[in-house]
Amino acid sequence: MERIVVHPSGPLEGRIRLSGAKNSVLKLMAATVLAEGTFVLRNVPHIVDVDCMADLLRSMGLGVDHCDNVLTVVRPADINPEAPYELVERMRASIVVLGPLLARVGRARVALPGGDDFGPRPIDMHLQSLERLGAVFSTAHGYIEGHADRLVGARIFLEFPSVGATENAVMAAVLAKGETVIENAAREPEIADLAGFLNRMGARVLGAGSPTITIVGVEELFAVEHEVIPDRIEAATFLAALGACGGELVLEAARPDHMDMLMQKLGEMGMRISTHPDGVWAMVGERLRSADVSTLPYPGIATDYKPFLVSILAVAEGVAIVAENLFSGRFRYIDELVRMGADIRIEEHFAVVRGVRRLSGAPVRAHDIRAGAALVVAGLAADGDTVVSDAHHIARGYERFAEKLRAVGADIETS
Ligand code: UD1
Repeated sequence: MERIVVHPSGPLEGRIRLSGAKNSVLKLMAATVLAEGTFVLRNVPHIVDVDCMADLLRSMGLGVDHCDNVLTVVRPADINPEAPYELVERMRASIVVLGPLLARVGRARVALPGGDDFGPRPIDMHLQSLERLGAVFSTAHGYIEGHADRLVGARIFLEFPSVGATENAVMAAVLAKGETVIENAAREPEIADLAGFLNRMGARVLGAGSPTITIVGVEELFAVEHEVIPDRIEAATFLAALGACGGELVLEAARPDHMDMLMQKLGEMGMRISTHPDGVWAMVGERLRSADVSTLPYPGIATDYKPFLVSILAVAEGVAIVAENLFSGRFRYIDELVRMGADIRIEEHFAVVRGVRRLSGAPVRAHDIRAGAALVVAGLAADGDTVVSDAHHIARGYERFAEKLRAVGADIETS
């Protein structure tokens, strides 16, 4: 999928079934390094990032099969604890194999991830937490090499509730000797999903989803089956599409308890939104109103939601201030929205969005997964056609994106 052509659309009507959460399944796949045997993960989306993680596991010697949203991982007794540059460069999240490799194999060689389109993304907190557990690192030739005879439980204070650093620390601590306490841990639902998976494998992880996670190390873990939680970021994308087009949608399998703040914010903007026996129901009958947005770690408004929210604020009534507090460079796609007639000014990590009645379709470029999806949302609310190029970014994180939107009435084509 290289291009998506978006025609003005609306209203949207019907039901969309959410896929499994990308940001959860990648970590669950990394966790399979921790135990020998055959794992079965259900509700695994067919997306490029899952293919990347599957390639990484295969390059380490694990067997991976992905059929009908069921992913089977066979973890043999011996694996090669290395994440090569070609794979880490394709997907930064590969860094989450570091903790499991050190915990289970005692050594790891992982290419240093670079920055990405929304700025530098350091891994200092990942390394510091693992060092607290006794790992020793050196870096040379673009690789981090780590080793540890047996990790030992410790108190870890994260400077910031980093999702990836929390996950790496939890996956390392499950096989460490003694107790680990992680303070200022990230609280995202994907962390609770990972903890549930690890506990099913025989780990003892307590408090995931709260700022303090306690892990009591065990001697051995076992391969298990698990169902991945639904993707709340995909849910936010479809809710934004509804905001852009109007209409009424049911998001099947959506977990309202994972999206409280988002639902509150969309409600403030005039969307009618509530829980539904099958997930989440939402309706938009008139132009949305502006509301300020400030991204924060969970349970705050996720930085991943922001591009979609900006797309609908661009056509909402009034002026909104959007503050990005996680990734300094995550405003780049706004230049593309401005090319579509949006009235947005950026000052450092703030964007001032003055809603216009309609955007104007234009050729635009997707710089990353969420920015790409946000441009499609904007195109739905634009006069004329919007052609989103580099749409392969969208396939990294969305399963059947265009097809799902088309099924509820969006007029879009892929090529
Ligand atoms: C994960 C998500 C990503 C989401 C982000 C924040 C996955 C695959 N990706 O990314 O979609 O946008 O959480 O919700 O799950 N930081 C450091 N040092 C570190 C680690 C992080 O300074 O060692 C900084 C980052 O630069 C950033 C902030 O901490 O400013 C948050 O990053 P983090 O929560 O770690 O994001 P990821 O886990 O990479």
